[in-house]
Amino acid sequence: MATLLIRDLEQVATPGPGAGPRRGAVLGAVEVTENAFVLCVDGAIRAIGPMSALPPLDGEIEELDGRGLSAIPGLVDCHTHPAFGGDRVQEFSLRAGGASYEELHASGGGILATVRATRALDEGGLAVRVARHADWMLAHGTTTWEGKSGYGLDRDTELSSLRAVRAAGGSPTWLGAHAVAPESDGADDYLDFVLSEVLAEAAQLAHAADVFLERGVFDAVQARRYLEACRGAGLALRLHGDQFTEAGAIPLAIELGARSVDHLEATGAEGVSALAASNVVGVLLPASALFLARPMPPARALVDAGAAIALATDFNPGSSFTTSLPLVCSLACTQLGLSPAEALIAVTVNAASVLGRTDIGRIATGFRADLTLLDAPDWRYLGYHLGGDIVSTVVKHGRVALRR
Ligand code: NIG
Ligand code: FE
Repeated sequence: MATLLIRDLEQVATPGPGAGPRRGAVLGAVEVTENAFVLCVDGAIRAIGPMSALPPLDGEIEELDGRGLSAIPGLVDCHTHPAFGGDRVQEFSLRAGGASYEELHASGGGILATVRATRALDEGGLAVRVARHADWMLAHGTTTWEGKSGYGLDRDTELSSLRAVRAAGGSPTWLGAHAVAPESDGADDYLDFVLSEVLAEAAQLAHAADVFLERGVFDAVQARRYLEACRGAGLALRLHGDQFTEAGAIPLAIELGARSVDHLEATGAEGVSALAASNVVGVLLPASALFLARPMPPARALVDAGAAIALATDFNPGSSFTTSLPLVCSLACTQLGLSPAEALIAVTVNAASVLGRTDIGRIATGFRADLTLLDAPDWRYLGYHLGGDIVSTVVKHGRVALRR
């Protein structure tokens, strides 16, 4: 029996009990225990409480000194694109000089530049890259992450991407409809190819499917065709929608029973009401809006209307080159009008629900022992310490996975 006792923590902060993604008043319901312990046995949380309630323990116990630290659940990044080769630093530099993301995309840069660099890697090379990106996530306190394919757009590279995400411990999403492959004759022709040649094997490797529904990429008819085929193969559904334009992503996500619709920077009042009245989670990606100098998504309006929201990094080489959920929480509190409690719930239980997970996201008896210890006397430093070196220790499945 492996026992880990984390003792003398300044605070333990966790989303309260509940089922499914939190919304409304419950979205801000964080429980805080001062001067606390967390006891983990065999990878699960056995007990949590104030030090005064620590039960007598015997046998072999590993102890972690929590003085000066605050514990939150291990962070969950429910939207990343870690399977890529090369970088887009030259594009970043051009954008800094005034070029727009959409212009660069239209001139053969953007996603298709990364597709060329990703296809140039063999499966081992891709796996090394994804593992490196997973290490970056861990260093920022992320213990569970989703990773999309979508920079292969051919059979072998899409499948290698999904295998690389699995091998690095991520939850794979087949973003087979991220862009139209350069060798295809338009979006319909490309979809003919992926649905007949890639879907069957991708569905064996991935948990979910995703599509970039956007003007000039895949329209709502094409997105429906892709998603319905993926649903038929047993995959959960996600959508990149309303990033630059409203092109029907929210109604389609609701109709098809998607887990989430992600981005929403361009969502207007009607979309806000529709999403709020549905079970689809709105995944907000403020680091991407920041990186591209785009408007922020209407987070406060969504929350006030009763929508379930999650927050994620959107880590990728073009629109969001960051793996830091603490940074995303800072942006949520300073740019999206969310409270620290709403941000915490959005990167823990609500993000877990987007991934179909009910065993992570809270520090409570029976949950998986994934914890992030912040180098802070108050858990709200998570968003407060902007760009700070906030993560002290990460516990994954009851074991210390990272320690500074
Ligand atoms: O979520 N919007 C589409 N896909 C990514 C960006 C991809 C890229 O620029 O390489 C996103 O922002
Ligand atoms: Fe994305």
